[in-house]
Formats: sequence, structure tokens, C-alpha cells
Amino acid sequence: MALQVRTARDNDRQALHDLSQLAFAARSAPYDEASDRSATPLDRRLLATEGARIVGRLAVWELGQWFGGRRVPMGGVSGVAVAPDARGRGVASTLVHEAIRTMRDRGEVVSSLYPMNHTLYRRHGWEVAGSYPEQRLDLRALTSLPRPDTEVEVRPTTEADLPAIRELHEAVSREEPGNLSHGPEFGARRLLGHPGIQEGYVAEADGRLTGLLVAGRTDPTDDRGFYTITVLQLLAADLASELALLRVLAAQYPVAGTVTLVTPPQSALPMLVGERDLRPVDRGWCWMTRLVDAAGAIAARGYAPDATAEVHLHLDDPVARWNTGPRVLRVKDGAGHLEPGGRGDVRLGIGRLASLYTGWTSPHRLARLGLLTGADAADLAALDRVFAGRLPWSRDFF
Ligand SMILES: CC(C)(COP(=O)(O)OP(=O)(O)OC[C@H]1O[C@@H](n2cnc3c(N)ncnc32)[C@H](O)[C@@H]1OP(=O)(O)O)[C@@H](O)C(=O)NCCC(=O)NCCS
Repeated sequence: MALQVRTARDNDRQALHDLSQLAFAARSAPYDEASDRSATPLDRRLLATEGARIVGRLAVWELGQWFGGRRVPMGGVSGVAVAPDARGRGVASTLVHEAIRTMRDRGEVVSSLYPMNHTLYRRHGWEVAGSYPEQRLDLRALTSLPRPDTEVEVRPTTEADLPAIRELHEAVSREEPGNLSHGPEFGARRLLGHPGIQEGYVAEADGRLTGLLVAGRTDPTDDRGFYTITVLQLLAADLASELALLRVLAAQYPVAGTVTLVTPPQSALPMLVGERDLRPVDRGWCWMTRLVDAAGAIAARGYAPDATAEVHLHLDDPVARWNTGPRVLRVKDGAGHLEPGGRGDVRLGIGRLASLYTGWTSPHRLARLGLLTGADAADLAALDRVFAGRLPWSRDFF
């Protein structure tokens, strides 16, 4: 039967939920209209049908991602699911191709996602490009933290906090490469908590919102039946606010024994606790990125003001052919351009360019692995000047 792709309609909601359950969930959860309405808007959900039946789906969040201090418009692909009996015959590939085309039309110049399987997305131009540094912390370690040295008040979140929380999220994320900038639809529940599921707290100092903690509880992990805390958001404008929020977690010891949170090795927390208290969670998620519109992506991110380069690339992108061919990369005065033409000296696939673009890998490493060819020492040095930076990471999962 012929496969067709279209955007979702209101009466598809239940069927989309059922398909996601079939693809992802161990235990079935009933359809919850309120929760579904807070997910991606219908016109951002793509579905594949065979006759009247929905056999595949995905969603694309409207997001941004910070690179070089600038917000790059990003389509966040999530919830890719195909009915078990329709797998292995190109349904997901068809949906992903269509998603790439629609992201390009909307000006989402890059796309990122959290992959369950790398092969599918690598085939379509995504490549590993940053980390989701989830760490497990022994809660006892937080009980000996110092008190904040200035007055900080902590209280539960309310709806009215949302604008100030969004502002804080933007402020602490913009200097962190790879961090998300939430779009208008994303985040309300993740930023406020959700009664009965996650608790949300804000920190305030001098009448200003200076921190956010959203944490949920997961099933007991030991035979005493105590719970584990999962931190979904920990944002702090300063150390006093961070300490005040960490005290809320510490106060749950010893009924909770451990907490998982997303914090990169260079953040404040590893400087506050002992070296053995914080350990990476074994899952070790990395996100993948695709340059949907390579020229648009190069123009959208920021660069160090003193980084200059002119490199003659040849890009290979069998899926998004508008990116393919010789291109000259020029970076000067903090701005980048990718123009058609030039000698095409340095050959690389679109996925490899994505992991250079975010700062995840280095041109020298790619050249050593044979994944970037034709570059001389000056080309490698120029690409390194332009893209090298702190390790890209994200604090938000989607
Ligand atoms: C992953 C999933 C969406 C793939 O759907 P699909 O329609 O079968 O995918 P396609 O037929 O378009 O496969 C395209 C390529 O992806 C790769 N691929 C697909 N499923 C894969 C899997 N489970 N593991 C590894 N690679 C896979 C293959 O390389 C395949 O190419 P090939 O058939 O030439 O070998 C589907 O198996 C599914 O719904 N799984 C459960 C939910 C899930 O894991 N979703 C992904 C979330 S990030």
C-alpha cells in the first residue's frame, strides 16, 4: 500500500499516542488530553499513513541552540516511531526526509535529536555533536555544603513565575555552547514542575528570581524502598542561589540516597563536592546534529572576534542536495559565510561538518580518521580557530 506523509490533525491525537506507546513504553499509559496538548503542536507532527492507518510519526520542536553566543534556529526531532509490523521498509526514512525539507522551509538551519539508534540518523546527515552530561550524586555529599552567604528565599513555583524562569534559562544558557533556547511551545511543564510528578522551586534574592529547581522522584533503587531524585532543571544565576536550591535536595537525605542531575564537568557542582561523590550515569547520552541549511547555519552562529579563516570545502550531502558541492567558508570579525564555488580542496560529509560546527570534534581528529580529506596544515589550523571552543552540552532533553 502506498505510503503518504502529512501533518497531524486533531482527530489523530489518540492514534499517535497509541503508536508512541507501542514503540517506546514498557507499560501502557492512558491517553491524557492535557498532556498531549502541551506537547508539540499538530502542525509540527508528521505522520506516515498506509490507507487510513497511521504507521509512523515524528515531531519537530521549535527551538534554538546557542553556538558562539548566538541563537541558532533549531528543529528538535523527537518521538520517531514506526509500528512494529511496518519497520524495515523505509517509513522512518521517509518521515525524516520530509522533516528535513520542512525544517529548511521554516528557516530551522540546524536540527538536533537524542538518538536511540545512531545508524538511522547518521544515514540522513546527523552526527554526534554534543553531550547530555547526566551525573549521579550521592545525596549525603550535599548535606555538608556551606549555607549561602547572602539571603536567598526558596519557594514552590507558580504559573506567574514562567516569564522570569524563561528569562533565567536564556541567561544561563546563552554562553554555554549547545544549550537550548526554548521556543514558545516548549518547556512550561518542564520549567514549572507538574503536580504529583515533579516538584518545582524557585530561588529569589532582592525580589528577583535567581534560580530554579525542578525534580522528580523515581522508583526505589534499593530494598529499603527509598527513592532516587531526578533533577530536570537546576538553574542558578549565582552561587548563593545554587547552594540554596541544593539544600532542598540535601534535605531529602537519607530518605533519598542519590540524585541524578545534568551538569557538565566544568560546572560549579564538581567544585563543591568530593571527587568521588559525582559520577557519570552509565547511559551516557550524546545528541546528534544535522546542518539542515549549511550556509544558513554558518551565518547564524557566532565566532570568536579574532578568528579568521578562508577554507575551500567540498560538502557531500546525498539527502539535502542543496548543501552539496564546492563552498568557500569565510570567517571574519565574528561573522561566518559559506558561499558556493571555490576550489573544493577539503572534502567532508555534512554530518562531519555538524560535529565540527558544534565544537564536538576537531578537524585534526577528523583528518586522522580519514573523515575529512584534502586539507593542508593551514586549512586544519583555520578550521580549528573557527570552531574550537568549550565542549558542547545540553541541559534539556526532548
Ligand atoms: C527506529 C525506528 C523508528 C526505525 O523505523 P523504520 O521505518 O524501520 O526505519 P527505516 O526502514 O527507514 O530504516 C532506515 C535505516 O535505519 C537503520 N535502522 C532502522 N531501525 C534500526 C534499529 N532498530 N537499529 C539500528 N538501525 C536501525 C537501518 O540502517 C535502516 O537501513 P537499512 O534498512 O538499509 O538497514 C523503528 O524501529 C522504531 O519505531 N523503533 C522503536 C522506537 C525508536 O527507537 N525510535 C527512535 C527514537 S530516537
